[in-house]
Amino acid sequence: MKFKEKLQKSLKDKINPQLLDKLPSSYAVIGDIAIFHRIDEQLLEHKRIIGEILIEIDPRVKTVIEQIETRTEFRRPQIRHIAGEKKTTTVHKEFNTMFKIDLDAITFSPGNKGERGHLIKITEENEIICDMFTCVGNLSLPIIVNNPSVTIYGIEINKEAYDFLTENIALNKVEKRYHSILGDNRVVTPKNVATRVIMGFFDIDKKQFENAVEAIKQEGWIHYHYTASRGSRFQIEESVLETSKLMNCKIEEINTRRIKKFSPRLEHMCADIKIRK
Ligand SMILES: C[S@@+](CC[C@H](N)C(=O)[O-])C[C@H]1O[C@@H](n2cnc3c(N)ncnc32)[C@H](O)[C@@H]1O
Repeated sequence: MKFKEKLQKSLKDKINPQLLDKLPSSYAVIGDIAIFHRIDEQLLEHKRIIGEILIEIDPRVKTVIEQIETRTEFRRPQIRHIAGEKKTTTVHKEFNTMFKIDLDAITFSPGNKGERGHLIKITEENEIICDMFTCVGNLSLPIIVNNPSVTIYGIEINKEAYDFLTENIALNKVEKRYHSILGDNRVVTPKNVATRVIMGFFDIDKKQFENAVEAIKQEGWIHYHYTASRGSRFQIEESVLETSKLMNCKIEEINTRRIKKFSPRLEHMCADIKIRK
């Protein structure tokens, strides 16, 4: 039985029948915390019982929260406790990798799991990867854990996220190969080292793209994340081509991929850009 049907069954004599259809149909689980995104306002007084039912039916879950996404530079989320243990820190396990995360301070997208798996698959032996927006190692830690020949430079501007990154590097025992850098990637991105650059952020500016190109040693891939309205063409293509021309390097390929639905109107996309210097 689907989650919404289970909720409807448990709540059928407890709430106004007109609200049964407005019950949430899905939730994400990070570690032992379940997350709802935007529960219908009309269910406000029933949130707690919804959370309690979820804890009863899903053995992974100890805490239920509601999260409202933000789009600031640090992307600090807004959290509301709904039911269970009052905590926001958890350890999430995925692809043999442990992520310690405080969901009140840091965003970790369960919807990017496919991308984490994809990056593990496409990374070759002995690659040197620069993750310019690493957060707690969201996209790059699984690569290094699953490929013992890889070296990573991970850059993070937010000290709180950086401290979790440092803890996660130790938790996964990759200290010798994962070099964490605290700072603005417009300033601290290493030059001429990488075979692959990950740019997991939606408002990438020209300087950051230039630094990604500079980070590549001779040839390599830049994974450039962006949002686009459904069906629209890849808008950054022109600026990427212009920058690479100015920087005297060749773009050998640009392939675009859909990663997930980001909002009712926007898709989370990634452009894989192959650079040769
Ligand atoms: C949206 S999170 C994405 C994390 C991960 N890349 C992913 O895609 O799942 C973006 C991270 O980039 C960091 N960030 C934003 N601007 C930055 C900058 N100029 N230099 C370094 N890190 C930055 C933020 O603090 C945040 O932790």
